[in-house]
Amino acid sequence: MKNEKVSVIICAAGKGERAGFGKNKLLAPLFGAPALYHTLKKFNIPEADEVVVTSSKEDYKEISALCSPFGYKAVRGGKTRTESVKKALKEISGDIVLIHDGARPFVQKSVILACIESVKKFGSGVAAVKFTDTAVYGRLGEITERLDRDSLFRVQTPQGFLTEDIRRAYELSGGNVYSDDSAVYGDFIAPPRLIEGSEENVKLTYKSDFKSEIPAISCGEFTRAGFGADVHAFGEGNFITLAGKRIDCDKSLIAHSDGDVIFHAVMDAYLSAAGLKDIGHYFPDTSPEFAGADSGKLLEKVIEIVKKAGYIGGNVSVSVQAEKPRLAPHIDEMVNNLSRICGLPKNNCAIAAGTCERLGFVGEGLGIAAYAVVTLNKECK
Ligand code: CTP
Ligand code: MG
Repeated sequence: MKNEKVSVIICAAGKGERAGFGKNKLLAPLFGAPALYHTLKKFNIPEADEVVVTSSKEDYKEISALCSPFGYKAVRGGKTRTESVKKALKEISGDIVLIHDGARPFVQKSVILACIESVKKFGSGVAAVKFTDTAVYGRLGEITERLDRDSLFRVQTPQGFLTEDIRRAYELSGGNVYSDDSAVYGDFIAPPRLIEGSEENVKLTYKSDFKSEIPAISCGEFTRAGFGADVHAFGEGNFITLAGKRIDCDKSLIAHSDGDVIFHAVMDAYLSAAGLKDIGHYFPDTSPEFAGADSGKLLEKVIEIVKKAGYIGGNVSVSVQAEKPRLAPHIDEMVNNLSRICGLPKNNCAIAAGTCERLGFVGEGLGIAAYAVVTLNKECK
């Protein structure tokens, strides 16, 4: 089969009881956005032709709103994950389907692509990781049997199948409840094919999983710092954009892009920490492509470039100097934007704002200046 259509089902219809937020854990904040947002974003790739997201009745409005910018469809789930998937399978039209837990926002693109490839070659592809601890059976606090660690795996999602096979398996499963899709497929179709998942691809289960200060596994000893600065002059206009936040002002900032001095300083700090060239090299201001550009989108690209170079973000610290407008009421929203785009916890992102006491070009109200320091860690391979 060539050019098979790939559908994705993202399971988000649970209650998240073990996390104890008093609401679905997937709507609790993670890096400045609902946890589910990060999972949805991971499937916004050309290889996924259609995405359907299961939701409970209570969360339907909120989950539909999260889906809408991506063009995904929210559908009502059931009482159990098994029921939710069974319902969602009726809503998709792909030849191949990837089923993924909304609670796994750290899934890597390479794992998603490996699942699709495995379905094309072998009819199924289920992400799993090998056991590293010694594994045993136990009862009443005693070890009753030692297990062969080399043939044990922890099964994750995504799990990919040919749609007609997994639909048939779920039909044959009757009212039984399963903890994942590979079990249903294994019972009624064939032994599922395993592909290599990743340790990073954890399932958010308890509240403590949301508090992790380090978004990915890092080898802390290779921390590097980078510094970035930017200035834009005021010109005619009635608003400015700072850290992605539109702020009313009696002037605008003159720039080829949207003039977001904070994001520009942060981008240079990221690139500098990774030992790369500055933003002018990646996004030349002579290029019409970047005229009026949304600097948030450019920062997303910089984060990708830095990630490709093998680094993950540690923290971002920004200082912005402006005689006007008053920035204090906007700082929280600006920090939220920074945290969401950089994929860092909010308390790893800080923005301080001040005036220049009427001294110099900032003090005379001629423009705005921003300075940023970023730390990066070398990613463990
Ligand atoms: N899920 C679902 N429909 C259900 C139950 C769960 O779509 N009726 C989804 C969850 O939203 C989650 C995934 O299946 O993304 C894996 O389930 P789990 O981690 O157990 O989440 P919850 O069931 O929400 O959490 P808990 O078991 O702690 O209540
Ligand atoms: Mg559950």
